[in-house]
Formats: sequence, structure tokens, C-alpha cells
Amino acid sequence: MPGGVIVGAQWGDEGKGKITDLLAERAEVIVRFQGGNNAGHTIVREGKEFKFHLIPSGILHAEKTCVIGNGVVLDPAVLLGEIDGLKRRGVDVGNLRISANAHLIMPYHVLLDTAGETKLGKLSIGTTRRGIGPCYADKALRLGVRVQDLLDPKILRTKIRAALEPKQQALRELSVQRRKLRKEAGEAAEPTTEVAADEVPDPRLDLHTMTEEHVNFGHRLEPHIADTARLCWEALDAGRTVIFEGAQATLLDLDHGTYPFVTSSNPIAGAACVGAGVGPTDIDEVWGVAKAYATRVGAGPFPTELEDEIGKRMGERGREFGTTTGRPRRCGWMDLVALRYAVRLNRMDTLAITKLDVLSGIGPLRVAVRYRSREGAVLDSFPYHQSILHSATPEYEELPGFDEEIGDCRAAADLPVGARDYLGFISEFVGVPVRLVGVGPDREQAIWIDS
Ligand code: IMP
Repeated sequence: MPGGVIVGAQWGDEGKGKITDLLAERAEVIVRFQGGNNAGHTIVREGKEFKFHLIPSGILHAEKTCVIGNGVVLDPAVLLGEIDGLKRRGVDVGNLRISANAHLIMPYHVLLDTAGETKLGKLSIGTTRRGIGPCYADKALRLGVRVQDLLDPKILRTKIRAALEPKQQALRELSVQRRKLRKEAGEAAEPTTEVAADEVPDPRLDLHTMTEEHVNFGHRLEPHIADTARLCWEALDAGRTVIFEGAQATLLDLDHGTYPFVTSSNPIAGAACVGAGVGPTDIDEVWGVAKAYATRVGAGPFPTELEDEIGKRMGERGREFGTTTGRPRRCGWMDLVALRYAVRLNRMDTLAITKLDVLSGIGPLRVAVRYRSREGAVLDSFPYHQSILHSATPEYEELPGFDEEIGDCRAAADLPVGARDYLGFISEFVGVPVRLVGVGPDREQAIWIDS
């Protein structure tokens, strides 16, 4: 596959990092095309755990070029922390390239994210509070600061100044509003860490300090800054394999996910073109990654959620805590209505199913095959209307499941019949072959299935 996209098929955290790492063996360039450090990949290599938020999972292959594409929003302090962490562990990051057109998450974006969530109260989205939404909003408003701006202190200062003014105003208003609400509710103290108070200038919002700090970030990042779209074209035109790696997942897509409980970018395959700067015909293959069950972090509809012992068990066995925020993930049965939607939306060719081992010993396994609306209507496809989705109840097919531990299986034939039938049912229902199965956290714990 000269141009291949890897996307999450559910609500994120499907284990895309491991799948990308495995597929990266066949690629020369790996490109992240959207999202920011709201994402988190964990890769276990020879018992060593590596956690990434921004750097593409392929970085562990020293000879591959890893690209942070123009569609990514990046927090330079976080990126430099990640680069330093990898260097300390002996990982060569010389092949990391960062698009000069990628947008920067600035300190005021992080403050606004938190302030916005606090203001929404019970209606909050449950964002990762990393400044993702406010940064993409500035990009659309044409108030963004881009990676290339780090290289020119004068331009940088002008851009920060233009972006900063409305933020200071917005943060002041939010702060006043919140204090008023607290007062009305009879609450006393203001939490000091959240938002700039109106009368005390927040040091994080000082134009001079921010500019100086970012000029320094620029010096450190300069060797990595590049025209990454051209880099992709050159590789593709020479017939080399380029993998475009999505963060988050289909149901968190800004346009096609469960809006407003979504992220602020487009994690679907089509967005790889925009976020990396290639054309649709550069994409030859689309891989979707789905967990053998379902999880979601943050608020929003999740029809197959299990708030019982089975859900708890999945969470414990699957170590379902967010890589970025540490929040426990909500767990539930595999939702094939949602998965079929994701398959079509991304026009997936192939599925990778991860964490199948987590389901061993759970008992009979359920998979949602349709929903029923509050009015009793049968819904075979994923409803586009939020109110319908919110009140839809799933209807399940029950499959026998399996009790054997499968962490040592390395071929489909090694899997117990119950596990194979489970995979077969999923594949047939959504109409896409399952070609890779994860049976444990280590990269060796994977089964390739020839179709
Ligand atoms: P934001 O992307 O931080 O704005 O958060 C918006 C929504 O996307 C929230 O529900 C987050 O929990 C969710 N989200 C963002 N990144 C990830 C991820 O990498 N995995 C799972 N959920 C995520």
C-alpha cells in the first residue's frame, strides 16, 4: 500500500499506536494528520512501555521518517518534552519532521479550554483540557500561530498580540461570570489554578514572556521544521509506502461523530488528505482499528455502555484509563451498528481488532446489531439525529465467547473456536476482513490473518 491510512473506528483508544507500529515495518514515512496532545498512544516493546501524545508511533523505527502534518495542532512544550524523553531512552529522533504550517497550541488555548468546560458545568464535553478546541477555532478564525512563525520573533510577537487580546477579554468575562455564579450559589473561594482572575494579570498571558519562550522553542524545533507535504509527495511519487496515522476516532469526528461530544478535528480517513497535503488518489488502502469491545472517555452518547460488573471487568482487564488524562474509560459491548457506519464513512478495506484477550472468561459475548428508538422503531443504521441516538437502545446478538487465555496465540488457528467465531461474526456483519488481531499489549502479541 504506497498510501495507507489508519483510523480509529470507535471512540478512540482502540490501540492504533500498536497497529501503526506493526504496519510501519512496511512503510518509510509515517504521518500524523490531525489532533494534538489530546491523543495518547502506548506501545510496549520488549516489555518497555513508550507513551506518545504527538510524535507518530513509527518513531521507534530509527530509519523511518516521522511527520507531524499540517493538520495537527501542537503544543511545543509538550512536543519538546516528548523529544527529550525519547532521547533520554536512547531513541533517535533525527528523522522527525514537523510541518511549518501546523498550528500551535498556545497557553491561552489551554486556559480557554478549561474555562469553557467549567462554564458548561453539567453540559461539559469532558475535553482533555489540552486546548485543542480553542486552537482549531483560532485556526478557522485566522488568528492562529503556526510553527513557521516560531522562526521570526517579530512576526511571532505580532501574531501572539493579535490572538491574545480577544482571549484576555474572553477569560476576564468568563472569570467574572463564574464568580457571580459562585456567589449566587453561596460558594466562597475561587479556585486559583483555573482561569485568570480579572484584576490579577496571569503571568502565563504576558506577551513578552510568551514570545521569548516561543522563540526558544523555535530554536530547538528548527532542525525538524520542514515542507512536509512535499516530503510526502516525493515519497509517494517514488513508490515508497507512506502511512497516514489518525488520532482519536470516527465517532469523535467534528462533522460525522456524536456532535457536540466530539473533538475539534476530523479523524476520518478523508481528512488525511487535508491534514497531510496529499490528494485522494494518493490513498490506496484504509485500515480501521476497533477494540474487541467498546470504550469512551468524556461525555456523550454510548448506546452499548455497561454500568455493571461486566463493564467493570472489561475496564480492569483492559487497563482502561486514558493515556492523556488518566480518566477511567466507560466500557461496553462491541457496537456493530456504529462500526458498520465507521466502515462506510472511512471506506475501510481492512479491520484490525485489538484487545481480544480482554474478553476471555467474560462469558457469552454480546454485539449490538441494531438499535430501537424510544418509539419502538427498528434502527439498522447509525442515527444521524442526536436525540434519537441519545435515547436509542441497542439490541444484541449473543455469541458463546471463550474462556481460554489467548495471549500466546500467534496464528488464527491457535485461537479458540469462540474467539474465531466472534471475529468472523464482526467481519461478516460489517463486510470487511479482519486482518490483524491484538491478543495482548506487547507488539509480538498480534495475529496476522491472510485473506
Ligand atoms: P478534546 O479533543 O480534548 O477537545 O476532547 C473532546 C472529546 O474527545 C472528549 O470527549 C475527549 O474525551 C475525547 N478525546 C479526545 N482525544 C481522545 C483520545 O485520544 N481518545 C479518546 N477520547 C479522546
